[in-house]
Order: sequence, then C-alpha cells, then structure tokens
Amino acid sequence: MESEDTNEYARWFRDSTPYISAHRLKTFVVLLGGEALAHRNLTNIVHDLALLHVLGVRVVVVHGARPQIDAALRKSTFHGSRRVTDANAMETILGIYGQLKSKLEALFSTGLPASPLHNTDIAVASGNFITARPVGVLDGVDHLFTGVARKVHAGRIEAALSNNALVLISPLGYSPSGQVFNLASDDLAADVALGLNADKLIAFDDQPYVTDSSGNPLTNLTPIQLDALLDDLAPGSARANRLHALLKASRGGVKRCHSVSFTDDGALLGELFTAEGRGTQISEARADMVRPARTADVAGIVELIRPLEEAGVLVRRSRDRLEQEIERFLVAEIDGIVVGCCAIYPCGTSAELACVAVHESYRKTRHNPGIGVSLLTGAEAAAIKAGMDNLFVLTTQTHDWFIENGFTDADIDQLPVPKQSLYNYQRNAKVMVKQLRSLESGKAT
Ligand SMILES: CC(C)(COP(=O)(O)OP(=O)(O)OC[C@H]1O[C@@H](n2cnc3c(N)ncnc32)[C@H](O)[C@@H]1OP(=O)(O)O)[C@@H](O)C(=O)NCCC(=O)NCCS
Repeated sequence: MESEDTNEYARWFRDSTPYISAHRLKTFVVLLGGEALAHRNLTNIVHDLALLHVLGVRVVVVHGARPQIDAALRKSTFHGSRRVTDANAMETILGIYGQLKSKLEALFSTGLPASPLHNTDIAVASGNFITARPVGVLDGVDHLFTGVARKVHAGRIEAALSNNALVLISPLGYSPSGQVFNLASDDLAADVALGLNADKLIAFDDQPYVTDSSGNPLTNLTPIQLDALLDDLAPGSARANRLHALLKASRGGVKRCHSVSFTDDGALLGELFTAEGRGTQISEARADMVRPARTADVAGIVELIRPLEEAGVLVRRSRDRLEQEIERFLVAEIDGIVVGCCAIYPCGTSAELACVAVHESYRKTRHNPGIGVSLLTGAEAAAIKAGMDNLFVLTTQTHDWFIENGFTDADIDQLPVPKQSLYNYQRNAKVMVKQLRSLESGKAT
C-alpha cells in the first residue's frame, strides 16, 4: 500500500512537471552574494542549481564577495555604498574572488553524493565575459580600480551555454587597455541578465520574502511597488543593493525576477516549481495573460477541466468537441502553462460564457487581479467586440463568484430561445446574466 508520503511526493512531482517543461532552455541569471557563499546551506543551493542545469535550464551564476572582502580589507574607503579599490586592495580582492570561484567550481564538480545527480558531470565555464570601465572621479573621489560594466559579451556567454556549460561570473571586468576592475556583483547580475535577455534574475537573500514596512511578507510585486519599498531600506545595505538590481532588471525587461532565501533549504525549487512560490517575485502586472486559444492548447485545457467535469462543476466536453470549438476559447497562460480557460458561445445578441476554470493551484495565488477575473474581463471584451448585448452563464456551484463579478440572477425564459429548449432541468443550474452595453460606455464596474 502507498504511504501518505509517497502520495505526497507523487502529487508534488506531478504538480511540478508543467514547470519543468516551461523552464527548459530558459536562461536564469542567479546572484549568489558573499553572504550566501558563506552559509552552510550553500551545498544544497549548488545542488539545486545543478538540478536546474540537468533539467535544461541555462544557468548563469554571478557571485559576490562583499563580507569576505570587508573582513580582509578592514580599512576600505567607501564613497556612498561603493568601495574605492586601490591597487593593493585589488590584489586582495582578486585573491578572494579566485578562492570563491574555485570553491564553487569544486562544489559543482563534486558529483553530489547521495543524490540522483551523483554521476552528473557539470562543465563550469568562466572567462572574459565583461568589459568594464572605471567609475572614475565622483564628487572629487577617484574610485581607482572600482569599475562598472560597459559591455556584457552575450555572444561568448551564449556560446558557453550552448555547449551545455553552466556559466560562473566573478564581479570583474576587463578594459580594452588590459586593466582589471572590481565591479558590484548585484549591479553586474542585472547587467548580465539584461545583456543576455534572460528569462529570470534570481537573487539569494537572507530573508524568505521581501516585506512591507510592517514586516508582512510580499509574494508578488510590480516594479513600481518594489521601488516604493526601497525608500524604507538603508541605502547601500546588502538588501537594498540586491533589490535595486532586481528592480533594474525588471524595469529593463527581464520578465520575472525573484528574491529567495539562501538560509531556507529548497526555497529556490519551491519558488520555481510550485504555483504559490517560496519567495518574492517581481513582474509587471500581466495584461497579456489572457489570449485566444490555439489547437496546441487543447491538451492543457483538457488537463485543467477534467477534474472539474468529474466533480460535476463543468459539463463534460469530449476532446474532439474541444478541438472543433477551440476558437471559442480564451486561455490564461503563465510561463507557457495553460492555467485557466473560458469559452464564449454567441447566440443571437447574447453570448453564453461557459467552461470557466482556473487551475486549482493558481486560484487565490499571487496574481492581482485574479486569473478568473482576468478571464472574465477578456471574455467580456471579446463579447463586446462581437456586438453582444449580454453574457449569460449557467452555474451550479459558482453563483456567488459571478454575483461578485457583476452578474445578476435571471429566469430561464430570459435565456435565448434555442438555449431555453436545451436547458437541463436535472442539472438545475442557476441562470445569471451580465449586461455588456453599460460596460462598453464605462458606466458599470
Ligand atoms: C470560479 C473560478 C474560475 C475563479 O477563479 P480565481 O482565479 O480563483 O478567481 P479570482 O482570483 O478572480 O477570485 C477569487 C475570489 O473568488 C472566490 N471564489 C472562488 N470560487 C468561488 C465560488 N465557487 N463561489 C464563490 N466565491 C468563489 C474566492 O474565494 C476568492 O475570493 P476572496 O479573494 O475574497 O477569498 C475558479 O475558482 C474555478 O476555476 N472554480 C472551479 C470551476 C468553476 O466553478 N467554474 C465556473 C463554472 S460555471
């Protein structure tokens, strides 16, 4: 007999499979700061990054070393939050970066004992991926060997990734005249993510979530919301620098940025492979989540609606029927996964809204507005465009949700005549209507 643990494991694994295909061949830039490198959880983090690599994610790690450098250079001069790097300091810093890089390379090469990855051989590639320029003189302070990235050689990094290597970047940049500059790792990670047109920038933090000013955890933020929170953080603190980097990448077009804990074993996997996540995600509000369905979506729709059909919430539709009627459907798609759907069947100047469904793990998650409401808004817009006066719905279990979204109760004789004759009295669904004309003129909410 299967134990509860086995069932739990199987369920978790099944639930995570859509993410495995969604993340495959995507480019994730990971910022692993010096604090994370010093933490005892580092081996697990490397293990999880190796797992991502094995699952086909193109992983680029940018490491930092701020606490290690602070410990070695107690008399560093700072201008604002930026360290001034003189020639002696640069020697020490190069030594520290070399050690940390070797430590990471060794961990990626260890063959991860007692794990399914113990025979996995991961090639780690590094190189002259970054051209830098000196920061120069700011407010009269010459920053010497402190630099900023001038160019990310995306082609070189791409070549290494295409060769199935995991790329490891130290915060150093080289100038065309052969000098080496010390860069801020957070800023560099954002530059690398932007230069590579990466799908994600993931920063490890010592806290599980970004929090609001009262300390409440926030699981999903838009760049504007994050920007507002940054005002409350001490400028130049490790967290402020990291969040600034996430903000920069997000504003620059990296679709999803994440902050996850380096102290919480498994946080990275929880964030990437579950709908509820286990960290804070920064992304623009998704106006484009809902789109017309395509034939390729049929499998996703079937997976979504079968459990609801079996529970009697939705009327059963065969796969053939779905294929024939696919142009009636809208889907909500997140990260390549169909997470919601609905269908609109015009009937005279009314349209039936049917098959409204949101994947269970995506209900009440971190999307605002919710996916159900987004689908409804998309359906209303499509019905208005098609010249419909109202939308009606027949529901057995979702009456209150439709009420909350502007539908009102109606009688069967208010249905379009052809639909009245098809009404299934046994199912005894409630009839609900929403007028669309008033929406069009902007009078209703
Ligand atoms: C109804 C449904 C599409 C809503 O999707 P969603 O993405 O969770 O919806 P939103 O995020 O837009 O709204 C969530 C709110 O609706 C509420 N809600 C969800 N299902 C509800 C129901 N059956 N009755 C009343 N309220 C419901 C939630 O409790 C939540 O309210 P809260 O935030 O105040 O707690 C989704 O719950 C679903 O797929 N249900 C099963 C299928 C179904 O009933 N389809 C309708 C067939 S006619």
